[in-house]
Amino acid sequence: MKNILVTGATGFIGSHTSVELLENGYNVIGIDNLYNSDKDVLSSIEYITGKSVKFYEGDILDYSILKKIFLENNIDCVIHFAAFKAVGESVEKPLDYYYNNVSGTLNILNCMREFNCKKFIYSSSATVYDKDNPIPYLEHYKKSATSPYGYTKVMVEQILSDIYVSDKDFSCVMLRYFNPIGAHKSGLIGENPKGVPNNLMPYICDVAISKREFLNVFGNDYNTVDGTGVRDYVHVVDIARGHLEAMKYVLISKGNIGINLGTGKGTSVLELVECFERVSGKKINIRICGRRDGDIDEFYADTTKAREILGWESRFDIEDMCLDSWNYIKAHI
Ligand code: NAD
Ligand code: UD1
Repeated sequence: MKNILVTGATGFIGSHTSVELLENGYNVIGIDNLYNSDKDVLSSIEYITGKSVKFYEGDILDYSILKKIFLENNIDCVIHFAAFKAVGESVEKPLDYYYNNVSGTLNILNCMREFNCKKFIYSSSATVYDKDNPIPYLEHYKKSATSPYGYTKVMVEQILSDIYVSDKDFSCVMLRYFNPIGAHKSGLIGENPKGVPNNLMPYICDVAISKREFLNVFGNDYNTVDGTGVRDYVHVVDIARGHLEAMKYVLISKGNIGINLGTGKGTSVLELVECFERVSGKKINIRICGRRDGDIDEFYADTTKAREILGWESRFDIEDMCLDSWNYIKAHI
């Protein structure tokens, strides 16, 4: 049985990926400092899979705990989720973001080098694509960023390609997620951000449970189907399956590649709201307001590479995503 180290294991995507790995016969060794997640996620994972994550509560910035994990477990591959992810906050606290996201990743890569572990999967983002690229985004398109958070992703991608240049035995997939939403069908794990949500689906959920009065729609004068922003929403369980396929791939290959994980389809803010209302039976009050700084009108993924290299395609549609997000949130009010 292969031993997979999952950083950020109790977070939104890390928890769903841990479920997928356990259900497919892999051992999961998890680390998280619980900065943005709760320990009870571990019992939900155990309830869903009948298996447990070997969990270390700790910080990836602490080399001694990483070393302890590598000494106590024969790690075959690392899937690295742990990071800060709030774009706006990264503008306020750039040093914290560069330290956690870039130095934290360097710490892990150093420890992997010490223990001769050369298989790595990195949580990158569609945010690495320059906003002037045509859509759909292809993996070789120009990269840039508009926030410190985005730059942490661009920088780590650069570091990973430099490592491969220096060591041809290194094997890495950088998965560029588009907009992950939804939750596990059990309703036991999902996304429940602390504080005011930055992203659309968690905000819609807050309005649905009357935690907030209305959704601010950031602009209705974009050049899109109905004037509101269009994004490629992708179910978190599909994202988790993408990690399983990427992990199988790195275990038998060498190289460093970036791969998009999206559905290849765009959905506008108003289309997502309408779909959520239909599947939940809840009215989502909206208020049209000004554009959000840094937003663009429309982007979605070209998914050819994920299909050709990983044999991966999304399975869930927008209705599944809305229903699963709703089922999770109403069970966690
Ligand atoms: P999340 O916040 O739910 O999970 C991240 C986990 O990492 C949290 O549980 C947090 O406590 C932990 N963590 C953070 N810093 C840590 C540290 N120094 N040491 C140990 N644990 C630490 O976020 P998520 O949505 O699951 O995102 C996972 C990864 O995917 C992140 O790297 C994020 O940048 C990337 N990503 C997310 C999205 C998205 O929309 N969710 C989109 C693109 C990329
Ligand atoms: C955001 C991040 C991006 C990250 C991505 C996936 C920003 C600027 N960008 O992108 O780096 O990779 O999430 O996690 O935060 N919207 C509203 N009202 C809201 C919230 C959002 O109208 O309260 C609109 C936005 O204008 C956008 C769409 O909904 O058109 C999706 O927004 P969001 O969920 O924040 O994702 P992205 O903007 O794609």
